[in-house]
Amino acid sequence: MITELADADNIVAPEPFAGPDHPMRKVTNQVAFDGSGAWDGARAGKIAGLFNDMADGWTAGHVSDVRARPVVDALDRGNVNLDGSWLEVGSGTGAGAMALQGRVNSLVCCDLAAEMLANAPAGLAPRVRTDASCLPFADNQFDAVLMINMLLFPDEVARVLRPQGSLVWVNTLGDQTPIHLPPNDVAAALPGEWHGTTARAGSGFWATLSRA
Ligand SMILES: C[S@@+](CC[C@H](N)C(=O)[O-])C[C@H]1O[C@@H](n2cnc3c(N)ncnc32)[C@H](O)[C@@H]1O
Repeated sequence: MITELADADNIVAPEPFAGPDHPMRKVTNQVAFDGSGAWDGARAGKIAGLFNDMADGWTAGHVSDVRARPVVDALDRGNVNLDGSWLEVGSGTGAGAMALQGRVNSLVCCDLAAEMLANAPAGLAPRVRTDASCLPFADNQFDAVLMINMLLFPDEVARVLRPQGSLVWVNTLGDQTPIHLPPNDVAAALPGEWHGTTARAGSGFWATLSRA
């Protein structure tokens, strides 16, 4: 079950950006629900190329205080372990690392696209280039996994999270986010039973989910 909290006091309507017919929506659903068949080297190469091409302008076009609000609100109200070890998957040019700066004990960032990582500020967190379909981390290694506008690879997220760990799921433009999954779909895609909390903040929403 997912409990919906009251809206944060800073919400704004997201600008119209992507609807249900956006091509990334199809990829998002396939990766979350169709298992390993939905992702292969060709698709990984295509997605990496897409984001490498957008990397130079990404921070200017897609990172802002308003879009950081759901991340900050999740830390404030999402009942997550700030003292634990965090992994951000699909960390891009560092939006999450900047929002988490000074709030969490330890953070590792990872992303498929080398150019996105190269455009992230150095010194905030170690940056690892890797594919989230096969994370180079041990089972039960992290207390929290943060994903902001990122494809959900459910089995890998569940594998690297400790039994009491939390997935922090953020769509910074709500249902206008190209890579969008509502909280109930995230819970349904994860293996086993998960419960959590969600709320709207800024132009988007967050959900924190842990094993029931
Ligand atoms: C929409 S961007 C979001 C970036 C950042 N989280 C933000 O909100 O600014 C999606 C990011 O996920 C990365 N990504 C996509 N597929 C991935 C995969 N299989 N493994 C790791 N990163 C991936 C992309 O390279 C890109 O940086």
